[in-house]
Amino acid sequence: MKNIIVTGGAGFIGSHLVKALLLDGHRVVVVDDLSTGKSSNLPSHPNCHLFEVDIVDELALAHLFESERPSLVYHEAAIASVQKSIHDPVRTSAVNDQGAKHVFELAVHVGSEQIVFASSAAVYGEDPRLPKRETFEPTPLSPYGFQKWQNEKDAARLAKKSGVRFTALRYFNVYGPQQDPQSEYSGVISIFVDRILNDLPLTIFGDGGQTRDFVNVADVVQANRSVQRVGGGFNVFNVGTAQETSLLELVHHLYMIENQAPNVVFQPRREGDIHRSVADIGQLMSKTDYSSNVHILQGLQALVSAIKLKNNE
Ligand SMILES: NC(=O)c1ccc[n+]([C@@H]2O[C@H](COP(=O)([O-])OP(=O)(O)OC[C@H]3O[C@@H](n4cnc5c(N)ncnc54)[C@H](O)[C@@H]3O)[C@@H](O)[C@H]2O)c1
Repeated sequence: MKNIIVTGGAGFIGSHLVKALLLDGHRVVVVDDLSTGKSSNLPSHPNCHLFEVDIVDELALAHLFESERPSLVYHEAAIASVQKSIHDPVRTSAVNDQGAKHVFELAVHVGSEQIVFASSAAVYGEDPRLPKRETFEPTPLSPYGFQKWQNEKDAARLAKKSGVRFTALRYFNVYGPQQDPQSEYSGVISIFVDRILNDLPLTIFGDGGQTRDFVNVADVVQANRSVQRVGGGFNVFNVGTAQETSLLELVHHLYMIENQAPNVVFQPRREGDIHRSVADIGQLMSKTDYSSNVHILQGLQALVSAIKLKNNE
């Protein structure tokens, strides 16, 4: 049994990860300010402990790390929004940049063996080369993308200095249950499913030909677990499916699942919207036992069923 800290563990991805770590038999300490996360996302389990702490508050965080002394830290906490990073760069930078640095430095200070953290496909920006490879020089477009890239640079520096293992996971477009459709910054899939189930039209910005690598949260959890066995130093891995899906295909799948006629409104393309994105996952597959197991259609069907079930509770 390991003692593990998961920052952002009450959020969408973090809460799925926490549940999997508990099933693996670990003790899990969740650090979350509940700004977008919810305590109700977490199971009531004797090995799961939630501390409502802002990662920007270095003293409170230091106190927690000193008393918990985790052997493994998963850092998922962030303001997970490109738009928010543009509209509120000061707070976003405090959380995504300074907050991450606090987590990394404290983990090293208390003797953690490994820090695994959520980076993002946003580091790739508008580089037109596909599929996206970890060896490409990042060219982020948004403060959010720059903050994730800065996390990677801080981690590489600390790994070199301390010998502690740091693993950056560049998530592509993650979807699955517990993603909040009410948040204006939420993923497109949760918003689309919510609107279809409420008989509302979908809005597509641009012609719908833009593509993404939509990866199910179950695959993301699997990636997080599988990197526990990766060797020393600093590593960075894409986490995706290696499958490219356009928004039009996504909409087609969703209306087919619901057996409804499409109801879509087209709006002008949004500034800064990346046209195509898909991950090369060869690195992660060759260094771990990761494979993407959830096909988009299967993942969407499961998501729609889960949301319907929840709505009927
Ligand atoms: N969802 C995606 O498609 C996606 C893609 C790439 C990267 N990521 C990254 O994955 C991680 C998890 O994202 P998510 O989609 O689950 O988002 P989320 O908003 O559901 O989760 C983030 C969690 O961090 C917490 N948090 C925010 N600021 C905090 C602070 N100052 N102190 C403590 N806790 C704080 C929130 O309350 C929330 O529980 C983030 O780092 C995000 O940048 C997500």
